[in-house]
Amino acid sequence: MENLNPKRDGFTSKFGIIAAAAGSAIGLGNIWKFPYIVGINGGAAFILIYLVCIALIGAPVMLSEFLIGRRAQKNAVGSFKKLAPNTPWFLTGWMGLGAAFMILSFYGVVAGWTFFYVVKMIFGAFKDMSPDAIGGMFGNFISGTNDAGTFGEWWHPIMYQVAFMALTAGVILGGVKNGIEKYSKILMPMLLVIIIILDIKAISLKGSSAGVEFLFKPEWGALKLSSVLDALGHAFFSLSLGMGTMITYGSYIGKKENLGVTSIQVTIADTLIALLAGLAIFPAVFAFGIEPGVGPGLVFVTLPNVFNAMGNIGQLFGIMFFVLLAVAALTSSISILEVVVAYLSEEMNLDRKKATIISTIIITFMGILCSLSLGPFTQTFPILELSEAEGFARFFTQYGFFDALDKISANFLLPIGGLMISVFVGWKMKNEDVKEELSNNGVLRIGYFVVFDFLCKFVAPLGIIFVFLYNLGVVKAVFTFFGWEI
Ligand code: PFF
Repeated sequence: MENLNPKRDGFTSKFGIIAAAAGSAIGLGNIWKFPYIVGINGGAAFILIYLVCIALIGAPVMLSEFLIGRRAQKNAVGSFKKLAPNTPWFLTGWMGLGAAFMILSFYGVVAGWTFFYVVKMIFGAFKDMSPDAIGGMFGNFISGTNDAGTFGEWWHPIMYQVAFMALTAGVILGGVKNGIEKYSKILMPMLLVIIIILDIKAISLKGSSAGVEFLFKPEWGALKLSSVLDALGHAFFSLSLGMGTMITYGSYIGKKENLGVTSIQVTIADTLIALLAGLAIFPAVFAFGIEPGVGPGLVFVTLPNVFNAMGNIGQLFGIMFFVLLAVAALTSSISILEVVVAYLSEEMNLDRKKATIISTIIITFMGILCSLSLGPFTQTFPILELSEAEGFARFFTQYGFFDALDKISANFLLPIGGLMISVFVGWKMKNEDVKEELSNNGVLRIGYFVVFDFLCKFVAPLGIIFVFLYNLGVVKAVFTFFGWEI
């Protein structure tokens, strides 16, 4: 495949592009985060809103990011500087950099948990443990609680987090072709196969049907005001959108590739994996009597029980699953770090090696604070969201550092980034440029452009604004004012 700018690294094959972009999208977001926020937000109704966000906002924003990156041939900040010189649009890229630092901080912590589980699985540590005991062990591990019941082992999860961050930096230093592409190609399809096997096992457990119902039968009453923003935020998080990841990857895609088809393929693959992960988790959650709304521990507490129920081969499956989950996390984390490294090396003229090392050290340090916030470091931070409190404080909910970084990045920075990106493509970029990027071998179906343009100009930006207003109760207040039910 041609490489437009000889100084820039690029993807070498069509499958490589899809695998790398899907590798970025598919990660802990699908397998760890999706099931737990579905659990917190009450199941099927949340999933439906999530799917609407994916289709009407996520897919067009992904295509927009690819298009910006390929047009500009630059990183997240440089792309805006090149396409809209002497305007403040580059701030969108900066915001993305901020989001990258925040996301990778807590992402590295959770990825570290998957390493720990690989080790535990190898030693057969979960064998004969009850669901409660597994939950207790997980809680102690992430909070660093030792046998004496104090936080004496705070370093334990941190050790795994640091190992994961070192690996991420190592792959980035290998470059795009040798690093990202090689790993993504073989391992992502393997992950899919393992999840499908887990689905079959989970659905065949006694008492699993309540879990299937939880996933597919909407209970609209279970939705909270914040659920809609959670759904939108997760659509961005899961598809790796709003912070320039796909702009950066788009800049590595050759001119001949069909960006529309690539975005749709990646979107479908990502959504499918999330739903399949949900189908592996919730039937088991109900079969083993685990509380669906337990939060971030859901996958880690549920799946060991499924492996136990598989008999002798369960351990082997467990090892394979957590290894592949760690790899899925790695292909996502490298895409996050790549946003920062591409910026520092292209805009600040740092060499890639220095850029990688410096950013990894900062992110790892922030990650250590995230990990400690689940144990000894209990400081909380207010996030804009309707809370139970009285007066002005009712607009803020308190979160620990780990959750605060997650909420600020996924629920605010990414959607605002997505808003800017869709407005940029819809209203600011030259129509000719957009059309040229959308056309294939010089041919552009006009209906395709009209639909995409409409989504970027109106549907995506207004949808995002609507969700923010909904989260703050403004939509509800307006409805109540007019005497309508909501
Ligand atoms: N999409 C990744 C996941 O679902 O695990 C996480 C992620 C990667 C978020 C890259 C944002 C990003 F830019």
